[in-house]
Amino acid sequence: MRRCMRTNADGGAATMARMLELVLSLSVLMSMIFSSTAQSCKSYALSSNKTFRACNDLPYLNSYLHWNYDSSSNKLQIAYRHTGITSSRWVAWAINPTSTGMAGSQALVAYQQTDGTMRAYTSPISSYQTSLQEGKLSFDVSDLSATLANNEIIIFATIGLSNTSTTVNHVWQDGAVSGNATQVHATSGANVQSMGTLNLLSGESSSTGGNDRIRKRNIHGVLNAVSWGILMPIGALIARYLKAFKSADPAWFYLHVGCQSIAYIVGVAGWGTGLKLGSESASIQYDAHRTIGIILFCLGTLQVFALLLRPKPDHKYRFYWNIYHHLVGYSVIILSIINIFKGFSILNPDKKWKNAYIGVIAALSFNAVWLEGYTWYLVVKRKRSEIAGKMPHGMNGSNGVNGFGARQRQGV
Ligand SMILES: *[C@@H]1O[C@H](CO)[C@@H](O)[C@H](O)[C@H]1NC(C)=O
Ligand SMILES: *[C@@H]1O[C@H](CO)[C@@H](O)[C@H](O)[C@H]1NC(C)=O
Ligand SMILES: *[C@@H]1O[C@H](CO)[C@@H](O)[C@H](O)[C@H]1NC(C)=O
Repeated sequence: MRRCMRTNADGGAATMARMLELVLSLSVLMSMIFSSTAQSCKSYALSSNKTFRACNDLPYLNSYLHWNYDSSSNKLQIAYRHTGITSSRWVAWAINPTSTGMAGSQALVAYQQTDGTMRAYTSPISSYQTSLQEGKLSFDVSDLSATLANNEIIIFATIGLSNTSTTVNHVWQDGAVSGNATQVHATSGANVQSMGTLNLLSGESSSTGGNDRIRKRNIHGVLNAVSWGILMPIGALIARYLKAFKSADPAWFYLHVGCQSIAYIVGVAGWGTGLKLGSESASIQYDAHRTIGIILFCLGTLQVFALLLRPKPDHKYRFYWNIYHHLVGYSVIILSIINIFKGFSILNPDKKWKNAYIGVIAALSFNAVWLEGYTWYLVVKRKRSEIAGKMPHGMNGSNGVNGFGARQRQGV
């Protein structure tokens, strides 16, 4: 029996190589998909016939600034684009000529009125208790207009900057509209982070990070979603269901170890980028996301060491090791998925990427469900034929691998 399974192992090795290839190409594909998730202002063509030479992906509130700056006349022509917005919200973009932040900023505000027309106006903000009343700004504004289409508001304006500095402090915001009146915006999370400085000539933005930070966050998201969020569950599925097929006997083990090792290495890289992001973000801490991330790293590392320290299949402690290994493994998968969704709400990428991840998880769960059913069927069938054949020592019943599989299933 054992000999026969060994010969199958050669076929298994080929299968393993093919599966590894599949897993690798899947992760490459996923990282390609996810890295293009990062919506960029550069790939966006404004539907009006205005063209802008420079643009910047603002780091918060799904916002983008497109502009032309003429340094000789000091004229700044802008399109401020705010996506993921409904008709019952206002958006604003402001320059603060004297300070940073909201107080003292000179704002362009836009929203849809109850009759469906867009209102775009200027509002100087003198204090935090503003209700965004219309008023004249400290600089000239012309060609002010706004559009709302496809859940995005775009404010167009031409600004005559009185200051010769090519770096401006800017702030952007959104909030609810009730009737024709703007309501106070949220005072936590991204709504208090949405400010920065912008170099009109180089296009560089800083202070709150800008493009560079968005890129780092996206890399962090991709690495972790692919490793902890996709590869690790796939590795668990391989271990749980491939070993029900006798022909896959040693192959499933190498596949499982290979898949989880790749996931762990990529995952640690992703975890490192997260730590770096956390250390750079002094003003805001995502405590839950951070804590779960650290727990995940510890549990994941524990699993790697547990693999090296595992007792032989027939060792009396192997049963307990198996329980421990499964417990930690499933905890890692559940925590990973929770943390990836926490990450989605922090990073706030385009909705379709969250949906894509939900799709991947749904597909994996669906496979898990039918494979679970099928392995049960195999186990029951095997038991029946064992009983019918009245073999004194079950074909494989006491084999560590399949034996545990069956025991596990009874426990579930
Ligand atoms: C395009 O530009 C022309 C001339 O500047 C203007 O009349 C027209 O309204 C513009 N079209 C759009 C869609 O903005
Ligand atoms: C020009 O900008 C500098 C720095 O941003 C600021 O200190 C100064 O008050 C501004 N001057 C005017 C006239 O707005
Ligand atoms: C909102 O403003 C528009 C345009 O001025 C007006 O037609 C509409 O009646 C106003 N709605 C309310 C509820 O005041």
